[in-house]
Amino acid sequence: MPKHKTSIAILGCGDVGSTLAYTLILNPICSEVLLVDPKTELLEAQVRDLGDATFRGNTGCKVRAGTHKEAGQADIVVITAGAKQKIGESRLSLLSRNLHILESIFSSMAPINPHTILLLVANPVDILTYFARILSGLPESQVIGTGTSLDSARLRGILAHKAEVAPNSIDAYVLGEHGDSQFIAWSTISIGTAPLALAIPASSEPGFKEDIATHTRGAAAAIIAAKGCTAYGIGNIAASLCKFILFDQRTVRPVSFYQPQLKCCLSLPAVIGRQGIIRAMPVVLDENEQRELERCAEGLRGIIAGAEQ
Ligand code: LAC
Repeated sequence: MPKHKTSIAILGCGDVGSTLAYTLILNPICSEVLLVDPKTELLEAQVRDLGDATFRGNTGCKVRAGTHKEAGQADIVVITAGAKQKIGESRLSLLSRNLHILESIFSSMAPINPHTILLLVANPVDILTYFARILSGLPESQVIGTGTSLDSARLRGILAHKAEVAPNSIDAYVLGEHGDSQFIAWSTISIGTAPLALAIPASSEPGFKEDIATHTRGAAAAIIAAKGCTAYGIGNIAASLCKFILFDQRTVRPVSFYQPQLKCCLSLPAVIGRQGIIRAMPVVLDENEQRELERCAEGLRGIIAGAEQ
């Protein structure tokens, strides 16, 4: 845990917010977790339940209920609040409901601490990250969406199984939208020191890449169909991003942030540290992947333009 007092505010204490809080407390990643939710009964129950976990774990991390105003002063504000996908529903269909919630969150939090890092988790995360940047008035580098970091972890899991190596020995990125237009940067994958074709010879067989891309794209929908939400995967990814930020770890991950050339937020690799996005990490895409990136950005720009009207 960092030596000085560090606080992470979580807006929304449903499945994702509470899983994130639990992960932050057990590690521990900060000295205080502040939970904010308009459902006061749920909020109080979550604080009590999570508080019990802090007593047993004795980790020194405290959890309490807070207001939006207090949340706006935290080191990191994580936004999980909003409607979640129903079975068969796309992330994009949540836009108008969750954009409305985002607007009310920012007006309640104002004035926001100018050093706060915003971490967007609610969906559609790329579009909400774009508007959070405008609504918060914070510098672009301080507004981050979890984006395809979770899809990339799912991809590394699949490749790890096939290559019979640990997932953290694999560099593999899903880029673009955290949604249906995402794509895998196949040409950049390395497994240990080996390119994909050498580490997994079956990767050149027909259907190999398509099957994995379909699986990665549809992973959340399959979980939602069976249990109504995803929480552990995203909770864990959000906690790890909080750690990279508070500990200034300079870890490279694909996250959603503003891309000035593409005029939207989408996921590309970035170095993540105490100031948020320290810098974009160059990525050399092949022609096909570059086309996919542009197609993805075009789709996101269209949705942004529709939401702005
Ligand atoms: C998922 C949600 C976070 O992919 O979109 O699990």
